[in-house]
Amino acid sequence: MYHEIKLLSSSFVLFLLFQFSTSTDTITSNQSIKDGDIVISNAKSFALGFFSPDNSTKRYVGIWYYKVSEQTVVWVANRDSPINDTSGILSIDRTGNLVIHDRRQNNIPLWSTNASALSAAAAAANNCSAQLLDSGNLVLFPGDSKRVVAWQSFDYPTNTMLPDMKLGADRRTGLNWFLTSWKSREDPGTGEYSYKMDLSGLPEFFLYKGSDPVWRTGPWNGLRWSGVPAMNPNSIFNVIYVDNDDEVSVIYGIHNASIFSRLMVNETGIVGRLTWHDGGRGWVGFWSSPKDTCDEYNGCGAYGDCDPRNASDFKCTCLPGFEPKSARDWYMRDGSGGCVRKRGRQVCGSGDGFVKVTNAKLPDTLTARADQKLGIKACKELCLSNCSCTAYTNADIRGEGSGCMIWYGELVDTREYTNGGQDLYPNIRSQKRVIKIGGWWQLLQRLSL
Ligand SMILES: *[C@@H]1O[C@H](CO)[C@@H](O)[C@H](O)[C@H]1NC(C)=O
Ligand SMILES: *[C@@H]1O[C@H](CO)[C@@H](O)[C@H](O)[C@H]1NC(C)=O
Ligand SMILES: *[C@@H]1O[C@H](CO)[C@@H](O)[C@H](O)[C@H]1NC(C)=O
Ligand SMILES: *[C@@H]1O[C@H](CO)[C@@H](O)[C@H](O)[C@H]1NC(C)=O
Ligand SMILES: *[C@@H]1O[C@H](CO)[C@@H](O)[C@H](O)[C@H]1NC(C)=O
Ligand SMILES: *[C@@H]1O[C@H](CO)[C@@H](O)[C@H](O)[C@H]1NC(C)=O
Ligand SMILES: *[C@@H]1O[C@H](CO)[C@@H](O)[C@H](O)[C@H]1NC(C)=O
Ligand SMILES: *[C@@H]1O[C@H](CO)[C@@H](O)[C@H](O)[C@H]1NC(C)=O
Ligand SMILES: *[C@@H]1O[C@H](CO)[C@@H](O)[C@H](O)[C@H]1NC(C)=O
Repeated sequence: MYHEIKLLSSSFVLFLLFQFSTSTDTITSNQSIKDGDIVISNAKSFALGFFSPDNSTKRYVGIWYYKVSEQTVVWVANRDSPINDTSGILSIDRTGNLVIHDRRQNNIPLWSTNASALSAAAAAANNCSAQLLDSGNLVLFPGDSKRVVAWQSFDYPTNTMLPDMKLGADRRTGLNWFLTSWKSREDPGTGEYSYKMDLSGLPEFFLYKGSDPVWRTGPWNGLRWSGVPAMNPNSIFNVIYVDNDDEVSVIYGIHNASIFSRLMVNETGIVGRLTWHDGGRGWVGFWSSPKDTCDEYNGCGAYGDCDPRNASDFKCTCLPGFEPKSARDWYMRDGSGGCVRKRGRQVCGSGDGFVKVTNAKLPDTLTARADQKLGIKACKELCLSNCSCTAYTNADIRGEGSGCMIWYGELVDTREYTNGGQDLYPNIRSQKRVIKIGGWWQLLQRLSL
C-alpha cells in the first residue's frame, strides 16, 4: 500500500494513469501506438511509449520502469531522430518492421527496426507482432511462433544495461553490443562516451570518449573484472561470463526480480551500477568508474604503476626493475612518459627475475596471452623461457588461483588497490634488445650534445 501511495504522489505516474489508453504488452499490425498510448509488460515492470526528457519538448519512443516513480528511461528507439510534436506513431509496417512516423513524413519512417529475417507472407497476413517483455526487452516476432526473434531491443542498447541483457562481441559476425551515453540529460541522442568490449588483446571493456580510451575494466579474472574490485560476487547478482570461439560476453542476472538495478554510462563519462531504493532515496550508486586519479587510462605511462595511496606524494611509481624515463618530468609530477629498465640489470636468460606487485590491476592485455590449463609454476617457466615475456600471473583468481596470463610487450596502465586486485610478477631482467637500443640511443644523444 505504501508503494501505491508513493506512486500516486508522483506527477509522472498521474500522467501515466490518466493520459494513456492502451495497456497491452503487444503491438500488432492492426494496433499501432500513438503518442500518449503506452504498452506495459505483463508483470508491469516496464512501459513503452512516447516521452520527452526533462527540459525538452522533443518526443522519443522509449522504454522506462513502470514502477519507479522517477522517470528512468532505459532504452530509446529514435534517439537521433526526435519528433517535434505529438503526432508520432509507432506501428508495424507492411514489411513487418516496427517503424516510427510523424504526421509529415508518411512514406519514409523516422526510425525502423530494419530487420531482415522477416517473412513477407507473415507480414502480408498481418501476423507480425512486437512484445514488451518483463525484462524490458522489446521483441519483434516474425509470425505466430514466439520461438523466432526477428529483432530485439536488447541487441541495440542505448546507455543502459539491464539484467539479462548481453554486452560483448560476437567473434564470428563482429557484432558488438555496447553502451553509448546520451548527449545530455535533455538529449538522448548518441553521445561521445561508449562502454565497449575490445578484442585486440584479451577481452576487456573500455570506456571511450570518442575513440580515446578513458578507463578500462581489465581482463576477467574468474570472479570479476580485474579493474572493478567493488564487483564482488554476492547473493544479488549471478554473472555469466562467456569466452569461446563464437562470442565473448557478459550477462548480469538478478536473483530477485523486485530489485531494480542497471548499469549505465552517463553523459559525464561515468560508467556505473545503480540500484533503486524506495522511501525517497531513489537511485543509489553500487559502484562507478573512473573513480580515483589512478583510473585514468595510462596515466603513468609504460611500466609505470599508479598508487592512489600516495596522495601526498606523486601517484606514479615505476614497476620493480624500472626507473622514470625522464627524471625531470617525474620531478614535475608528469608520469605520462613512463619508465624504462634500470641499467645494469641481469640479462635475460640468466635466471630468476621477478618481483611481486600485490593488489594490482592487471596491465592492458593488448600483448597478453592466457592459458587456463597452465599452473603458476609452468607459467613462470614459460615466462623465463622467452626474453619477450614482461610479466606473468594467474588467469583466474578463484580459490588458490589457476591458469596463466603472460604479457609479451610493454606493461601499460597498471595500478594498485588498497583492497582487491591480484599479484602480478613483472620481469625485472633486462632484455638484450632493449639494452642495445638504449645504448645506441644514449650514444646518439651524447654525440648530438
Ligand atoms: C488484422 O485485421 C485484419 C482486418 O481487420 C484481420 O483480417 C486480421 O485477422 C487481423 N489480424 C490480427 C493478427 O489481429
Ligand atoms: C532543467 O532546467 C532547470 C532550469 O534551467 C535546471 O535547474 C534543471 O537542472 C534542468 N533539468 C535537467 C534534467 O537538466
Ligand atoms: C524538427 O525541427 C527541426 C528544427 O526546426 C527540424 O530541423 C527537423 O527537421 C524537425 N524534425 C521533424 C521530424 O519534423
Ligand atoms: C534503416 O535502414 C536505412 C536505410 O538503410 C537507414 O537509413 C536507417 O538509418 C536504418 N535505421 C536504423 C534504425 O538502423
Ligand atoms: C497467420 O496467422 C494465422 C492464424 O494464426 C495462421 O493460420 C496463418 O498460417 C499465418 N500466416 C502466415 C503467413 O504466417
Ligand atoms: C525480493 O525483494 C523484496 C524487496 O526488495 C523482498 O520483499 C522480498 O522478500 C525478496 N524476495 C526474495 C525471494 O528474496
Ligand atoms: C553520472 O553517473 C554517476 C554515477 O552513476 C553519478 O554519480 C553522477 O551524478 C552522474 N552524473 C550525471 C550528470 O548524471
Ligand atoms: C610513495 O612515493 C614514494 C616516492 O615516489 C615512494 O618511495 C613510495 O614507495 C610510495 N609509497 C607507496 C605506498 O607506494
Ligand atoms: C616468445 O614469445 C613470442 C610471443 O608469443 C613469440 O612470438 C616468440 O616466438 C617467442 N620466442 C621464443 C624464443 O620462444
